[in-house]
Amino acid sequence: ADALKIGIAGLGTVGASLAKILVERRDMLTTTCGRPIEIIAVTARTKGRDRGVDLSAIEWFDDSVALAREAKIDVFVELMGGAGDPAYSAVKAALSRGVHVVTANKALLAAHGVELAGIAEKNGCILNYEAAVAGGIPVIKALRESLTGNTISRVYGIMNGTCNYILTKMEKEGLSFEACLKEAQRLGYAEADPAFDIEGNDTAHKLSILTTLAFGTKISADDIYLEGITNISIDDIRAAADLGYRIKLLGVAQKTDTGVEQRVHPTMVPLDSVIAQVDGVTNAVAIESDILGELLMVGPGAGGNATASAVLGDIADIAKSRPGAQTVPALGRPAASLAPYKRAQ
Ligand code: NDP
Ligand code: HSE
Repeated sequence: ADALKIGIAGLGTVGASLAKILVERRDMLTTTCGRPIEIIAVTARTKGRDRGVDLSAIEWFDDSVALAREAKIDVFVELMGGAGDPAYSAVKAALSRGVHVVTANKALLAAHGVELAGIAEKNGCILNYEAAVAGGIPVIKALRESLTGNTISRVYGIMNGTCNYILTKMEKEGLSFEACLKEAQRLGYAEADPAFDIEGNDTAHKLSILTTLAFGTKISADDIYLEGITNISIDDIRAAADLGYRIKLLGVAQKTDTGVEQRVHPTMVPLDSVIAQVDGVTNAVAIESDILGELLMVGPGAGGNATASAVLGDIADIAKSRPGAQTVPALGRPAASLAPYKRAQ
């Protein structure tokens, strides 16, 4: 069968890990997907930088929007980050000409998800974004596919690996907030601007995507009550432990009588709860629904390989997709008819 031709914009922590896996596991992927997956175009900010994988035979573009617009690709993989340009224009350009898109960019989806999903639906292309929420945990697939037919009442969890890593290290190793954040950055967990992690915005972006999928409301990260972990001290962590609790940064979205309540804030969880045992960069997402009951998914929430694994799954889904798969709505169902978000009183 014909190769699935992909272009990758962004060769940092996630993009370089993905490229390496695609090159090293080419044969295995060809067998499992029924066709080869071939990288035919790449771009990043700095040409010639060592990415830990030989990409010299692949066409280089100086500009991601040009790649999205001109490369002869089936799938545009956006791994640059940022809610604005060039990610926004590049994704829009790809979808507008019928090219499928895979992205890990939650900031982009929180800002422009409804518009982008609408363009994808109009042009019959797939917009996949599993890696955008909780890294390698297949939570988007759970909400988009596995829980079809369920009515969901609550989605909550630990959705930022950097914050959970910091809180865990502060408690277990007594290190300062700043030292733990530096380590999270070194390990490739943090956002380019780590303020997004520690001030809670990244969790809010992720929660807003889950809310849309769970409740069919428009994405509205700005409506989320938001409090990060910057004011949490070792003394707070110890005081919570003395009372039988651990502090976790949680994102919570739940149906109330007056609307959908969404909030992100440090939360005291009982020490003997499962969520209290979720350590380090690990994330956990719980979904409460009426047919299945409570689903709890725990797994790596950030890092090159964990995130690339989810991106790869999205690409493989496109490689394997049956005719008509692209008519499945990309976000809520369909994006144009999502109900407005109503803040709980
Ligand atoms: P990095 O900062 O490591 O990499 C970003 C890449 O994009 C770099 O290769 C950079 O080029 C390139 N880039 C940045 N700006 C431009 C531009 N204007 N034009 C072309 N290329 C550009 O980020 P990550 O890999 O960590 O993250 C990528 C995306 O994945 C983000 O949306 C992030 O939120 C998301 N994500 C990240 C996770 C993680 O654990 N790191 C987990 C889940 C999602 P250069 O290398 O030359 O500087
Ligand atoms: N900075 C994010 C985190 C990356 O730490 O969770 C994964 O989305």
